[in-house]
Amino acid sequence: MCGIIGVAAQKGNVVPLIIGGLKRLEYRGYDSAGIAVVSGSTVSVRKGAGKIEHVVVAKGFEELNGSTGIGHTRWATHGAPNDINAHPHTDCTGSIAVVHNGIIKNYAELKEELVARGHRFSSETDTEVIAHLIEEELRRQGSFRHAFQEAVKRLEGSFAIAVLYSGEPDRIYFAKKDSPLVVGLGRGANFLASDIPAFLEHTRRVIVLRDGEAGWITSQEVHIENVYTGESVDVPGRVRTISWSPSMAAKGGYPHFMLKEIHEQPRALRDTFYGLSSDESLAKAAELLAGAERIYVTAAGTSFHAGLLFDYYMLRLAGRTVRAFIASEYEWFKGVPGRGDVLLAISQSGETMDTLKAVRLFKEHGARVIALSNVYESAIPRESGIAIYTRAGPEIGVAASKTFLTQALALLLLAGHAARISGRITRDEMAEIMSAASKANRLAQRAISVSEGVVRTVAKWFSKKGNAYILSRGIGVPIAMEGALKVKEISYIHAEAYPAGESKHGPIALIEPGFPVFFLLVDQHLKELKGNVMEMKARGATVVAVGPPRSEILSESDIHIPAPEAPPLLEPFTLTPPLQLLAYYTAVSLGYNPDKPRNLAKTVTVE
Ligand code: M6R
Repeated sequence: MCGIIGVAAQKGNVVPLIIGGLKRLEYRGYDSAGIAVVSGSTVSVRKGAGKIEHVVVAKGFEELNGSTGIGHTRWATHGAPNDINAHPHTDCTGSIAVVHNGIIKNYAELKEELVARGHRFSSETDTEVIAHLIEEELRRQGSFRHAFQEAVKRLEGSFAIAVLYSGEPDRIYFAKKDSPLVVGLGRGANFLASDIPAFLEHTRRVIVLRDGEAGWITSQEVHIENVYTGESVDVPGRVRTISWSPSMAAKGGYPHFMLKEIHEQPRALRDTFYGLSSDESLAKAAELLAGAERIYVTAAGTSFHAGLLFDYYMLRLAGRTVRAFIASEYEWFKGVPGRGDVLLAISQSGETMDTLKAVRLFKEHGARVIALSNVYESAIPRESGIAIYTRAGPEIGVAASKTFLTQALALLLLAGHAARISGRITRDEMAEIMSAASKANRLAQRAISVSEGVVRTVAKWFSKKGNAYILSRGIGVPIAMEGALKVKEISYIHAEAYPAGESKHGPIALIEPGFPVFFLLVDQHLKELKGNVMEMKARGATVVAVGPPRSEILSESDIHIPAPEAPPLLEPFTLTPPLQLLAYYTAVSLGYNPDKPRNLAKTVTVE
């Protein structure tokens, strides 16, 4: 949902750094882009609709020069994606430029008030009110710092803001509430960005800003305070050095981030396994679950599918039922949770607004919250009592891949520990789970190696289809749902996942000769799956079997995408990669860029 960046350098031109940062943030939105720099005492702005690569050239970003600047890549909320609505937005005098990620809920009232005071607006965005509001406050306050603070206090909704002012050419002001913003402390330059990869090439020393924090950066200084209370933040005490390396945020020779991230899964799983094997937070979370009255799990998109795996693992291992719900439906649970209940909130970004709202609702009711995220100190972990982290590293492709399997592994370990603490499994059984989980990385590696060649060929055939079903049973159902989401979001082919047994209750009506039906071969349900395969075959479907070579199913299938054998709880690690690769190669066959699917943004910070 929009990416913002700011760079304040001691000397030199920051424009190439801002463009580089925007390219790394493009996964957050890519319908328009813009940049503003202060040169001398003038704020210069260039912006336009389209992908960054195109806008940079078309609007001559590189003609600008200055040592302090801000940039923005947009995912439109208020106002169509066009040149005028692209950020930065300026005040009436053109001396204040603002970039913003989030939604200003009270922008209509503020706009009305400002228009009545004579301010002229040029865009349809909510963001533009911020520039005019600061301008208005500046008339009263005299100091820009106070004008900025007063303006921020009047904003309702979510925001990560970076502001340039011609009167203070070496400073970038910022404020944050409910949208992510990180400060990067470099040598001779300091940074602001929506996400760490934007400046990872230049520094690994970061401060993750918290809600209500505002301040400014120059090339030498970082000042942070709570804008509502005026309390100063101890900046050195908040600096963290992160372990991500710049190569983790680069393509590393792959044509797309998504393919790189699929291939990175063995590494990501190994790091997650070893990182969590002795993790105190995981142990505390397991204890909480073992003692919980009721257990809920919530998330959106891919993370929700991981939540369904958790449901499965908890039932199988700990004998506990888990109520899984889509985060945006959190209002169903108003008045429901109690003090003895536990909510597990899963979010790779840790910033998804729907999930955050669910967390807040459960907390209001006194429930305890555990977060599982891939981003250290992001909003959801910070607002949860216990935070567990996957070690997938930065995921740039908009479609989640490596983060799904690392979530699945973390959730298997969590359920295993909860089962052990509640006495449901023995020490030896737990040791078996740990030993199996330690092999998840190898299973994923083998799944990629054995399936990739076949998938490339199958993708050419599949790219000519308009619809598909992905069916399975048991643990295969969440995997099928994740596969269908991948196919839909990057190849734009309509794919639906169903429990195979459910298909005869309606979905089978769509089957006609040549309709593709993928079956995920989970070992515990082969007999029933065979029945479902026969039903589909009888109606002319083209059956694609995905899994180990099970002769009883392969004899009835038209196509086989191989995957290795796996112990029952580990089938997500062998059956997911072939589906991720299928979505990827299908998108590529159709000429789409899998890293930037249309209409989507990586992190959805609006409701
Ligand atoms: O960062 P989160 O895990 O909270 O994100 C949740 C969804 O927005 C995300 O999984 C989305 O569905 C992706 N496009 C899936 O590929």
